[in-house]
Amino acid sequence: MTISTPLTALLQIKHPILLAPMAGAAGGRLAAAVSHAGGLGIVGGGYGETDWLTRELDAAGNARIGVGFITWSMAQNPRLLDLALERKPAAIMLSFGDIAPHVEAIKRAGALLICQIQGVTEAKDVVVKGADIVVAQGTEAGGHGATRATFPLVPAAVDVAGDIPVAAAGGIADGRGLAAALMLGAAGVLMGTRFLASTESLVSLKAKRRLIDSNGESTVRTSVFDIVRGRTWPAPYTGRVIRNEFLESWSGREADLVRDREQAARAYAEGQRRDDQGTAVLHAGEALDLIGDIPPAREIVERVVHDAERLLGGASDRYRLGQ
Ligand SMILES: Cc1cc2nc3c(=O)[nH]c(=O)nc-3n(C[C@H](O)[C@H](O)[C@H](O)COP(=O)(O)O)c2cc1C
Repeated sequence: MTISTPLTALLQIKHPILLAPMAGAAGGRLAAAVSHAGGLGIVGGGYGETDWLTRELDAAGNARIGVGFITWSMAQNPRLLDLALERKPAAIMLSFGDIAPHVEAIKRAGALLICQIQGVTEAKDVVVKGADIVVAQGTEAGGHGATRATFPLVPAAVDVAGDIPVAAAGGIADGRGLAAALMLGAAGVLMGTRFLASTESLVSLKAKRRLIDSNGESTVRTSVFDIVRGRTWPAPYTGRVIRNEFLESWSGREADLVRDREQAARAYAEGQRRDDQGTAVLHAGEALDLIGDIPPAREIVERVVHDAERLLGGASDRYRLGQ
């Protein structure tokens, strides 16, 4: 049995599962593993470090993958999109910002354009401007995002997207999430946090263990780490992270942090260099309750698909349809 949807047809993939383009974590090996397992791996181009992206695109070998960027940061390095398009990716994913300046180049290169949105207004905007696939990201998501929750956002995005396939993101980590997303009208899912705790993800083993030891309540949306890293995000975006001592010491004192940034940034950089989990940021989402191991990405894809297939095939014992 397989789950075929407009998303699998358009992307020519076997399973309706996309790897989130997690900056610094979704490298070439992880993207290739997800693609080889039948989903679509998307390398996290993030804030646009050229050397990092070149190395990770090399690491993906000849796997058919996508590349994702934080749209508003692309202006700082216009070469970056060309670098990705030269590799003939299956898709380019853009999140957070106006896609208009980049649409033509992406289409001309023959890549599909995936756009991640956090609200219905943004969904309408990317549909009008040429998105081939919309990712509706709820606030449960790890990493940067906004305030709308996945459950009502996904069907609302589906309603404005028309024939354009929508993938649900934010809080999805198992077959139940994939099955529910399809019931909401989505044509697949995009998962970040679940793949962060995989063999191939680029975060340290210490960080992966912290994922396993944490749960949804350990996470919170904050700007503290953006401020200290000197990467100020425009409103309404914040990052969902796992709480730690550094966050607790600055939470609610963001204005002080802006003022004392230089000193705090030195302490932060040192903590990050030592991979001190009490200091370093670890973006992760509310789905942590559902994550208890660090398997290879292939196994994650297989489990999610297998469980979703069973549920969609009528295996759920949680309801009965009556006359
Ligand atoms: C560690 C991490 C880094 C992320 N980095 C990015 C990024 O660079 N660009 C982006 O568009 N989304 C990024 N995201 C958000 C994902 O694209 C996606 O929306 C999210 O992971 C989905 O929710 P989930 O984490 O509950 O699966 C990141 C998420 C995580 C967990």
